[in-house]
Amino acid sequence: MPSTIVVGGFFGDEGKGKIIAYLAKHDRPQIVARGGVGPNAGHTVEVAGKKYALRMVPSGFVHESARLLIGAGVLVDPEVLNREVSSLGLKGRVGVDLRCGIIEAKHIEEDRKDADLKGKIGTTGTGCGPANAARALRKAKQAKDIKELEEYLCDVPREINGALDHGNLVLVEGTQGFGISLLYGTYPFVTSKDTSASQMAADVGIGPTRVDAVIVVFKSYPTRVGEGPFETQLSEEKAAELRIEEYGTVTGRKRRIGMWDGKMAAYSAMVNGATAVALSGVDRLDPACRGVKEYGELSKEIQEFVAKVEHDTRVPVKLISTGPELSEIVDLREQ
Ligand code: IMP
Ligand code: MG
Repeated sequence: MPSTIVVGGFFGDEGKGKIIAYLAKHDRPQIVARGGVGPNAGHTVEVAGKKYALRMVPSGFVHESARLLIGAGVLVDPEVLNREVSSLGLKGRVGVDLRCGIIEAKHIEEDRKDADLKGKIGTTGTGCGPANAARALRKAKQAKDIKELEEYLCDVPREINGALDHGNLVLVEGTQGFGISLLYGTYPFVTSKDTSASQMAADVGIGPTRVDAVIVVFKSYPTRVGEGPFETQLSEEKAAELRIEEYGTVTGRKRRIGMWDGKMAAYSAMVNGATAVALSGVDRLDPACRGVKEYGELSKEIQEFVAKVEHDTRVPVKLISTGPELSEIVDLREQ
């Protein structure tokens, strides 16, 4: 599929980072482009025993020849970006659209001080909400105004559409999850922007007619950080029984754990226009499935769960992640 968008189907932290890194390594796209809100996102990628936590740079960096782009819709924190580029040795590979919005110190301060943002909503405190508000008020800076971003500046839509014109693969990486979309999520307990596939296309500058595939990632057991309703949430005791305990990549806060929500998954698949589902974390439901690469080797319980997910979403499950490592996956796509 020349252009594929990957988005989160629940409340974020569905394991998109791992899925995207796998797709980048396996399908070898020419470009991996990030959409989404900004450095409030935390993607975890594990390759060859090394664990990376990313907030600005696309998780597809693991495919060494891929060009790594940050679309105009995304908010950039120059400090976070520079830190990631140098710690991962990505100089020369990263492009930032000249129109990206900029997070300034005052936005971070406001996000951390504002009683509603910090207290009621439980934001990540990374300045995204105030920066997007400034953007809507036309008071925000753009990447092209920032001296330290000069070396990264580019026209992301031109690069992506050009690659597609030449028949090359482009992977578009969404962040956050459907449940915290400004439009479709549990408002006001949401992030400062839509998080659906259409938004990701707009963020990187490809039109709806140029999107070939949309992979929606669902975690077998949804999780949520920050405040807000969570219909299938388990009690702390029940979550402890399942031995599932997780902490946020950006904030370190404890994630609330829930059960599969078929109703939410169906709605999310519909609005995202899902062409395929990627299911993550089945190894947490059945540790015997850890590292399995063939569908036939999954336990009966997990195979039944996959069938239920397909029944609920009416979308085929094409990828099943069986552990954090890139190689721990069942890939059912036609090769
Ligand atoms: P903000 O995006 O920092 O304004 O936070 C708003 C809400 O979205 C809070 O509940 C955050 O915990 C949540 N949120 C934002 N980004 C992510 C993410 O990447 N994963 C999970 N939750 C997120
Ligand atoms: Mg995350």
